[in-house]
Amino acid sequence: MCGIIGYTGASPALSMVIDSLRKLEYRGYDSAGIALTGKAGEKLIVAKRAGKLSNLESALTSDHADSLSGIGHTRWATHGGPTDENAHPHISSDGKVAVIHNGIIENYIELKAELEKRGHKFSSQTDTESVAHLLSDEFNLSKDLADAMRKVCKRLRGSFTLLAISSDSPEVIVGARRNSPLVVGLGRGENFLASDVSAFIAHTKSALELGQDQVVQVSPDVVLVTDLDGKQVSAKPFEITWDAKAAERGGYTHFMLKEIFEQPKAISETLLGRFSNDSKVICSELASLNLDIDRILILACGTAYHAGLIGKYAIEQWSKIAVDVELASEFRYRKPFLTAKTLVITISQSGETMDTLMAARHAKELGAATLSICNTMGSSIARESDAVFYSHAGPEIAVASTKALLTQIVALKVIALYLAQNNKSLSSAQIAKIIAELLALPNKVEEILETVEPLRAMTRGFKDATSVLFLGRNVGYPAALEGALKLKELAYMHAEGFAGGELKHGPIALIEEGTPVIAILPPASSAISEKMLSNIQEVRARGANVIAIADASTPLDLKHVIRIPSCDELLQSILAIVPLQVFAYEMAVARGNDVDQPRNLAKSVTVE
Ligand code: M6R
Repeated sequence: MCGIIGYTGASPALSMVIDSLRKLEYRGYDSAGIALTGKAGEKLIVAKRAGKLSNLESALTSDHADSLSGIGHTRWATHGGPTDENAHPHISSDGKVAVIHNGIIENYIELKAELEKRGHKFSSQTDTESVAHLLSDEFNLSKDLADAMRKVCKRLRGSFTLLAISSDSPEVIVGARRNSPLVVGLGRGENFLASDVSAFIAHTKSALELGQDQVVQVSPDVVLVTDLDGKQVSAKPFEITWDAKAAERGGYTHFMLKEIFEQPKAISETLLGRFSNDSKVICSELASLNLDIDRILILACGTAYHAGLIGKYAIEQWSKIAVDVELASEFRYRKPFLTAKTLVITISQSGETMDTLMAARHAKELGAATLSICNTMGSSIARESDAVFYSHAGPEIAVASTKALLTQIVALKVIALYLAQNNKSLSSAQIAKIIAELLALPNKVEEILETVEPLRAMTRGFKDATSVLFLGRNVGYPAALEGALKLKELAYMHAEGFAGGELKHGPIALIEEGTPVIAILPPASSAISEKMLSNIQEVRARGANVIAIADASTPLDLKHVIRIPSCDELLQSILAIVPLQVFAYEMAVARGNDVDQPRNLAKSVTVE
């Protein structure tokens, strides 16, 4: 969850590290810190501050300016509150070694007890500080930072990305990873180590993926990767396709707003190359698995889980293959029944969500093949899956997932259609019709975004509501769940999504005079259209203030109606989610919340 950067090269490390930390702040933002090396033997320069990165920046002085190597960290607290002392880097007792860490060291209590017996004094409540002391003890014996890191990693339990520098080897940065991300950015006469590529794409597009339990040593011209026994191993090179500009705010007030408006382009990118001129669906990733599939299990967390719930409807209806969708965090601790004919699809924007990664490993151990829908190249889930369907949303910086979600849903529709083509469960004409519907989505999303101002104004009128309910049926139900999640995450309001049919089984008791209820209506031709209209009447009769999202086929006598373009019923949630995103965004702005970095959250949930 924390952001990690290491830089060594000819440019001033201070500005390089701070610049990268700005790009990484979305990963965690309750404190930040840096450590820079000086000339050999000179003291490390360390600065760290609780709060946002700007607090650290104000604490920096000009004596930080000429270092050529350094490490930086933005934190999402796990062990110990967000204070100056608990901020990373953590420094060894002799002041010679600085360490930053993402993850959790599960055996830190026993390590701490051992280190205290050896005379080390601890100045923080973190699990990470033990690593700094252990590392310096090993470094003092071997005088080799990478060797010390290998020895220390063997003693650690849990998950970690670690970076360390030492005042005795000023140009060297050493990194290690286990179940937590670390990528190497390869520059000319400079190298980077980072928790994700957005930290360095402004400087280089060439990168290396590090494998599990690998240690990397970088200096300006050398990158050396080994396993924990010191055996040299080769890391997998890859080129980053993201544009550095895509990770900038580019004139928008918030990244989230920019990312909402990027959705038409993102969907087009997901669909690029997926259909031949004669309307054949192309999915070489799935074809490469060469599977006889009798069941699909989708695993994901948060918003990505909602993508899975939405995808289930199309996969089952079009391809006639049974689909289950499960929270990765639940699945990983179960003993489920999977066979070699089960295709497990994991969905993750970051490709680093710990629960999803562990669920994918669990599924593999149980004999299933894994396909991931992933947005981030070089990420752990992408690397460990049997095949990867890249969603090509581009960098998503706001903590709230928007364009990642729509592209995940679109990817699932492509997969559903590909399976239907293989199973011959849809005719060529039916497939061609759905392809046309999919290709029309970017323009339809654009149309919604062009007419979004009245929705924004209307949302501000609800800013003092204490609770908002979302109702939907069929694909509208997971869309309702997503609308509620977005609102909780951004507006810090009570919000819940319900299936329309469940209303009378309890949730209707929540309706009071004026309660805002957002109802997602299917096209009028749908079998559930009248059911949703009845639900609207039921909540209105009890005082609800209904906001309906519907296409033009349903006449509505309501004060608040948000019209979306018409489309295939199974694709409609893609369009309905856009106003829900705008609603949550605007509500957060109206309530004065930090839209891009909502409280207590972080973009990549790389710990349990
Ligand atoms: O990176 P992932 O797609 O695996 O992330 C999964 C969830 O943590 C993520 O979707 C989260 O729910 C979002 N912050 C919601 O907006």
